[in-house]
Amino acid sequence: MKRRDFLKSAAFVGVSLAAYGKIFDKEDIVEYLKRAVSFPIPPLLKGVMRAGVRHYILHAGKDHHFFGEKLAATYSFNGAGFLGPTLLLRRGERVSIDIYNKLSEEITVHGHGMIVPAVMDGTPHQTIASGESWSARYVVAQRACTAWYHPHTLGKTAEQVYKGLAGMIIVKEEEDFGLPSRYGIDDIPVVLQDRNIDDAGLRYVPTMREIMQGYVGETFLTNGAIDPLLPAKNGLLRLRLLNGSNSSVYRLAFEPYKNFWLIATDGGLIEKPVELDEILLSPGERAEIVLDLRNAFGEQFTLTERNYDRRFFRIDVRWRGGSGEVLPTFLHTEPQVSEPMRRRKFVLGMRRGVFTINGKVMNRFRIDEHLQLGEAELWEIENDSMMAHNFHVHGVHFKIVGRSTGEVYAYEKGWKDTVFLPPRSSVKILLKMDQYRDPETPYMYHCHFLEHEDRGMMGQFTVT
Ligand code: C2O
Ligand code: CU
Ligand code: CU
Repeated sequence: MKRRDFLKSAAFVGVSLAAYGKIFDKEDIVEYLKRAVSFPIPPLLKGVMRAGVRHYILHAGKDHHFFGEKLAATYSFNGAGFLGPTLLLRRGERVSIDIYNKLSEEITVHGHGMIVPAVMDGTPHQTIASGESWSARYVVAQRACTAWYHPHTLGKTAEQVYKGLAGMIIVKEEEDFGLPSRYGIDDIPVVLQDRNIDDAGLRYVPTMREIMQGYVGETFLTNGAIDPLLPAKNGLLRLRLLNGSNSSVYRLAFEPYKNFWLIATDGGLIEKPVELDEILLSPGERAEIVLDLRNAFGEQFTLTERNYDRRFFRIDVRWRGGSGEVLPTFLHTEPQVSEPMRRRKFVLGMRRGVFTINGKVMNRFRIDEHLQLGEAELWEIENDSMMAHNFHVHGVHFKIVGRSTGEVYAYEKGWKDTVFLPPRSSVKILLKMDQYRDPETPYMYHCHFLEHEDRGMMGQFTVT
């Protein structure tokens, strides 16, 4: 930035520099403003209604993107440079998400968190060859939530996501539950990732140790940007957090220290906002949080990551006018969880360079489990290893009912589709497939550490 421009932006926030001084030192702010980039908000794809079906178009293709000063070859959707647009889906609507593969390799596109028929799930059973297209057609029959889309190509998911193929999905209902819901203004999509970037571009060469322990990049990214600045008003700010990393577990908190309110987990809104001071998100997990900035005019907050001691982005409360808003104390009534009729156990393990579930590596021609439509089940998932894993189930949202390490975390008491498993621990989840049956086409369950998933830690189930 030229000195003149810098002086301009310093003047812009100059009114509140005194307030900053209390928390951050002036030097820090000045340094930050010199290089701060603005916070990227992915375009919102609202689709086009034709004959009762809302159509969305996604093109997966080769692209380029600047990560700071480094230009890298990437993949993206719709020419976004990196990642893709946010899909806005409305509950009750019939949709067709038309995906064109302009890459020179096969992909699939899965809607993670979407409850759709297995043939529309975008798993390794719905591949899109280079130059071909495929449509996910279904009725949006689930509650408002934050979901996301990404490739699910057998053995190639990690690399394709790493290069940039991912995007957020927002499912809306008629009602906005009294929550901030202006996209990009007070309702912010936040895709958190990390990448290794060198002069040759994105570097995806995990060693065996990194494959096991997590391939964590040097550069932390928010919607593809390094340490961007999000301007906000002194009101309520809703952040839709997604851990979109390959295999990093993020422990997130604000600095200076500030409590926030959890309002939704993977599957949608929780009953009542829960006050937290930090939150742990493993790959694939989402959390919607609300920051109360009503008394914070002129202040800055950084979303920091405590496991690796990094920061993602900074919020600058530079606008007035939102202080009259209130966070509802009650959001909605959650459906009751039914008594399980059957139990299953899944043991996550490893042998000679491959990752296993119940001793088996993924085989797309083998159905591992057969579930009955409408029967509740209790699944015990055991991490039998010295490394961290997690567990994601397609086609359903579940409740976490037990953790071997103690209480179920405060921030995972709502509906989930992905659950974290620290080394040598187990969890119990309660689930019920109750919307679609298909004896032929399976759904997947797997570890969402993408390096593990690609090396076998995945299984398949059908619903009859
Ligand atoms: Cu986010 Cu089976 O995936
Ligand atoms: Cu999924
Ligand atoms: Cu794993």
